[in-house]
Amino acid sequence: MPMRAALLAHPAGHSLSPVMHNAAFAHLGIDATYEAWDVPPERLAEALERLRQDDMLGANVTVPHKTAVMDGLDRLTDRAQAVGAVNLIVRDGNELVGENQDTEGFLRSLEVEGVTPAGKRVALLGAGGAARAIGWALVHAGCRELRIWNRTAARAEELASSLRVDARDTIIVSASQLDDLRDSDLWIQTTTLGMRKGGQDPDTSPVPGDGWRSLLGDAIDPVAVDIVYRPLRTPFLRSATSAGMQTINGSGMLLYQGAAAFEAWTGKTAPVDVMRKALHDALEDES
Ligand code: ATR
Repeated sequence: MPMRAALLAHPAGHSLSPVMHNAAFAHLGIDATYEAWDVPPERLAEALERLRQDDMLGANVTVPHKTAVMDGLDRLTDRAQAVGAVNLIVRDGNELVGENQDTEGFLRSLEVEGVTPAGKRVALLGAGGAARAIGWALVHAGCRELRIWNRTAARAEELASSLRVDARDTIIVSASQLDDLRDSDLWIQTTTLGMRKGGQDPDTSPVPGDGWRSLLGDAIDPVAVDIVYRPLRTPFLRSATSAGMQTINGSGMLLYQGAAAFEAWTGKTAPVDVMRKALHDALEDES
């Protein structure tokens, strides 16, 4: 029987996950297809029923369903429970199991660029769902200090409080202004600023282009990471490059969470090079 995997999103139009997974299925000769489903919130329960059918491998979950979907699943992994968000569903018989691989995908995207968060002072820009998974990953990777800044300061404080529950040795603070992030070694941009909208390149970044000089202070080998991948070179990363920083774009996080999902669904080693090429070809076609 031909199998399927799906993305639960709203809107679903521009996802690159189908390109990446269909290339991997084809490469390994697996009779399966990956489809992007546009699922408005009021039809989420119906989509989950569809996922229980025998031809479904499982699904990825993205905006705006990562938290809401948790209630409709039969089981959550410890990590999904701790992070408070699900980006991967695996069908196990008639049961749906929720997992979070954004955390591992993010850490792997740093690791392949030779960047380790352990012992670092980290500035986390943003306090939405993506920031929550990344903050959790950074704490578990042993960063020394996590400083969370957000446009809406109350959300930064709320995220800081919830991460402190599981903080181990990491000092977690919320920053009411950018200046409170001074001297950070690792800068992670998780807001939607800088994302391309309707074909227009954005020109916005949470850090003003000339702001790096005063913010870097005594940072050690500072690195800027943006989880946005459209465009690959966001204003945040462009200004960081000009300031002499190492930069990492969002395509690695997309790739490695995708590889983890593929392995969970098929039980086979993901053809990461094939998936990376499919992703990069699609992104280059756009730029
Ligand atoms: P996700 O779950 O994908 O992270 P989200 O929960 O909507 O999405 O979070 C989006 C993030 O981008 C938030 O940190 C948001 O800041 P607010 O909490 O203040 O809304 C941030 N963001 C969105 N638009 C922004 C803007 N114009 N300036 C600064 N931050 C912005």
